[in-house]
Amino acid sequence: MGTKRNFRVWRGDADGGDLRDFQVEVNEGEVVLDIIHRLQATQTPDLACRWNCKAGKCGSCSMEINGMPRLSCMTRMSTFAPDETVTITPLRTFPVIRDLVTDVSYNYQKARETPAFAPPAGVAPGEYRMQQVDVERSQEFRKCIECYLCQNTCHVIRDHDENKPPFSGPRFFIRAAELDMHPLDARSDRKEYAQASMGLGFCNITKCCTEVCPEHIKITDNAIIPMKERVVDRRFDPLVWLGRKIFRR
Ligand code: FES
Repeated sequence: MGTKRNFRVWRGDADGGDLRDFQVEVNEGEVVLDIIHRLQATQTPDLACRWNCKAGKCGSCSMEINGMPRLSCMTRMSTFAPDETVTITPLRTFPVIRDLVTDVSYNYQKARETPAFAPPAGVAPGEYRMQQVDVERSQEFRKCIECYLCQNTCHVIRDHDENKPPFSGPRFFIRAAELDMHPLDARSDRKEYAQASMGLGFCNITKCCTEVCPEHIKITDNAIIPMKERVVDRRFDPLVWLGRKIFRR
């Protein structure tokens, strides 16, 4: 037999909304998504929420729980004190559609803007070959489940809609880093592109994105900082500088 616990859940739509209080039964081993399902089954059948796998792999159930961007299916109720009110709100960086569902199309737009993998000319699909060591080097970045918690927490866009057009965000910086490490990617310079066209320079490496990544990808240390360093190295390399001067003349 479970115990009744206190929850505050944001309800509303694009025109506005507010936090509503609920008491919901909680059983041992449950996660926040279980509570949302129980709420839907018993008190609020029209509560809107996105989810799919309930296994931390589809990236659908992103929301803010006590102000922290989290996957609701991976957030155990046992992490909260029994008398604590658990507040559940939609992702703040994206426009609300209804209740806990937000419009994350910004991310798909940025995905479209990111140049795709470009294989070398003359190599057909099925003929790509690369060393295992190169496969492993970027494996960490391919763990991304596209939950967009990193995008949601990034302060460059969290309270600054005006930064959204020029800024692609951490999810797409790891994509750029992954392709930059790819030995078969024929697109010459992913990091220069990230700097010039994806807004890499907006990031001031506060590591908020890394902190919320459910796959524990070291977004800042392993993708963003190395790309920033290499862009800077190149710009201030005396030989490159001299070459640029001569070339410009
Ligand atoms: Fe798939 Fe939570 S439901 S990650």
